[in-house]
Amino acid sequence: MSSFDFNRHTTREGTYSVQYEGTEKLFGTDGLEPFWIADMDIETPGAVQEAMKRRIDNGIFGYTKWQNPKFYEAVKGWWHRRFGIVLEDDEIHYAPSVMFTVGEAVRQFSEEGEGVILTMPSYNAFIGMVKGNGRKIVDCPLLENDDGWQFDFDHFEALCSREDVKVYIHCNPHNPTGRVWKRDELEKIREICLRTGVFLISDEIHMDFVRPKGQFVSMVELMADGDPMLVTTGLGKTFNLASIPHSYFITRDKALQKKIARNIASRYGMGAANSLALEAIHAAYTECGSWVDGLNSHIEENMQLVEDYITEHMSEWLDFKKPEATYLAWISFEKSGLADEEVHKALVDIGGIAVSPGHIYDMKKNRHFRFNVASSRHRVEDGLERIYRTFKKITKSTVQ
Ligand SMILES: Cc1ncc(COP(=O)(O)O)c(C=O)c1O
Repeated sequence: MSSFDFNRHTTREGTYSVQYEGTEKLFGTDGLEPFWIADMDIETPGAVQEAMKRRIDNGIFGYTKWQNPKFYEAVKGWWHRRFGIVLEDDEIHYAPSVMFTVGEAVRQFSEEGEGVILTMPSYNAFIGMVKGNGRKIVDCPLLENDDGWQFDFDHFEALCSREDVKVYIHCNPHNPTGRVWKRDELEKIREICLRTGVFLISDEIHMDFVRPKGQFVSMVELMADGDPMLVTTGLGKTFNLASIPHSYFITRDKALQKKIARNIASRYGMGAANSLALEAIHAAYTECGSWVDGLNSHIEENMQLVEDYITEHMSEWLDFKKPEATYLAWISFEKSGLADEEVHKALVDIGGIAVSPGHIYDMKKNRHFRFNVASSRHRVEDGLERIYRTFKKITKSTVQ
């Protein structure tokens, strides 16, 4: 277990944090208590901070090669120890960010106007990325039953069989629902994509937040030589490094890897690595496994707190079951009968809280919000009280 105190408060004042200072655009105001964007109110581990400081002490930040044994060994070691997966150097490629790689694969495998499948709800940046590249969103809604969120294979297969559909962006673990896809589900998805010629992108950036960790199956495990697919991930979520841009992707399709590498270098001029990110990756992946385990225990406790609090105080209005993964609680207010706009306005006006409105993940009306629990227990309690005050007040005023 880590000795790190995950409840410690660290100010973000003066850091231009989007979480704290970027609420105006989505919520119409600032000064809200924020639980929305997916970063943590928890410091990156000391070993990672120290590694970056040592690199800073060198004082020279010239062009830096990611193709080095320190990078490869760190990534391979992490995947082997955490997931039992053996990777080869030439299967791993550094890239500027996860969303860069998602966008580049979309551009490589589809033309403007063609379709990209997203499960709905879907991470909102996927929606923006598909639209921003002039592609068409083809939605494959997840189905919800008593066992949680389910993949609709029949619908997916029908969509993949369409002439105009070229790419599927899979998210595992899934943001925002927290669903971890099982091996047999991944096998079916892979098989359908291969058979119908749909390129498969598996975004696994939340892979380290699976509880218990042994439950995670990466698409890498099913990837054969030459398969038209890639897995993209990074340390932005796990180690709270979103502002130190970096990521890496894994593919066994050599031609694809070359094409993406060529574009990164020659089309976008981004072939060099971020020198601080490389140090962070090495320290995090070689020294911080027990920190991640401790962090997951903390998040599990916070998720349990959310579940218990909702059961005890808000079960009239809200439904929530702890997810198997991520630090994001996807909470339904369907049973309150309240309208989407009303709830989100009230959360801001009455609760003074910023939680992500469900409709940004769904494009349509959606009676959910996403509550980020990667904070101290105290902050999560405060957030829950704000949500309680909000619902208490609006349900009362609706009834009168
Ligand atoms: C599923 C998913 N992919 C990608 C990202 C962002 O990754 P990056 O900052 O490396 O583009 C996020 C951030 O929330 C995410 O949830």
